[in-house]
Amino acid sequence: MNISKNAVPPQALRLITGPAKVTTYESTGGQVTQQFAQHNLGLIPSIGAGSIIHDNASGSGTVTRLILSNPTTPKDSVQIQATDIDQPFLDQLSADAASNAWPVTATNQRGESLSFADETFTHSITNIGIIFFTGAGLDGTKEIHRTLKPGGVAIVNCWESVTWQPAIFAVHAHFRSKHPFPAPTTNWKDGKQIRKVMIDAGFAEEKMKVETSEAWAKVGGGEDGFRAWVEKTWAYLAGIAGWFPDDERDWDEEVDMLAKVLRSYGEEQGVKVVGDEVWLRASQWVVVAEK
Ligand SMILES: C[S@@+](CC[C@H](N)C(=O)[O-])C[C@H]1O[C@@H](n2cnc3c(N)ncnc32)[C@H](O)[C@@H]1O
Repeated sequence: MNISKNAVPPQALRLITGPAKVTTYESTGGQVTQQFAQHNLGLIPSIGAGSIIHDNASGSGTVTRLILSNPTTPKDSVQIQATDIDQPFLDQLSADAASNAWPVTATNQRGESLSFADETFTHSITNIGIIFFTGAGLDGTKEIHRTLKPGGVAIVNCWESVTWQPAIFAVHAHFRSKHPFPAPTTNWKDGKQIRKVMIDAGFAEEKMKVETSEAWAKVGGGEDGFRAWVEKTWAYLAGIAGWFPDDERDWDEEVDMLAKVLRSYGEEQGVKVVGDEVWLRASQWVVVAEK
């Protein structure tokens, strides 16, 4: 993730450095990427014996873990290559793979220039990764196509909506008004771009299925639990715009405002209270394509 390393306030540093970064991600946005991956794996036939799977832009192995925890996966006869550019995530996955004897190799590779030979994989799954690839996603999508066997299946997805994104923008605008939040260079929200890059990379439109689905981050632990989730979310995402000298001084107020803005949202804006949990919605566009 492209998070600024400049003047990171200590409050963020403790949440996004080394192994803490992995747990911060997994307990915030990772909750919904995990649900997307679970949903998307349900769109394809179960993973069969002899499958060679690419968990592309893997993070700490969200897709890998779901595949291996599925009782129908023949673990003795599949191989998984997990790749990412963020070493703490790969370290976590490698450690878990070693201690559980999982058939997984985790390597640090950019999705835009993979070391794998042409037509290596039976499955290539890029869970909320395509948006980070250069060329508005196309450079990595060409690699997905190149490394997939004919008849192999690719799953790619991108955000359609994220409830906490406009709230982050509001807090940023309030506390960092001299520094506009960098505008996204590519619009992924209407599903046109993800379909386009898949076609431009070589996938045939008639062998592609495109759909949307939603997931919910479910935050328990009452007020304290919610504030902790909000603080981690601010720590993980506010640095996309860069960190600023006043962030350290303003930290508590920034986090409080983010919590307040989110609490002010109704269900239409993506927040609902269910029992003693706060649920926050995110939705995806997913493309399943056969090469
Ligand atoms: C939103 S996370 C998704 C992680 C994981 N797939 C999941 O479902 O939770 C995006 C991941 O893309 C990785 N990433 C960003 N740019 C990348 C690139 N150019 N090549 C490979 N991975 C990249 C990040 O390091 C991060 O782990």
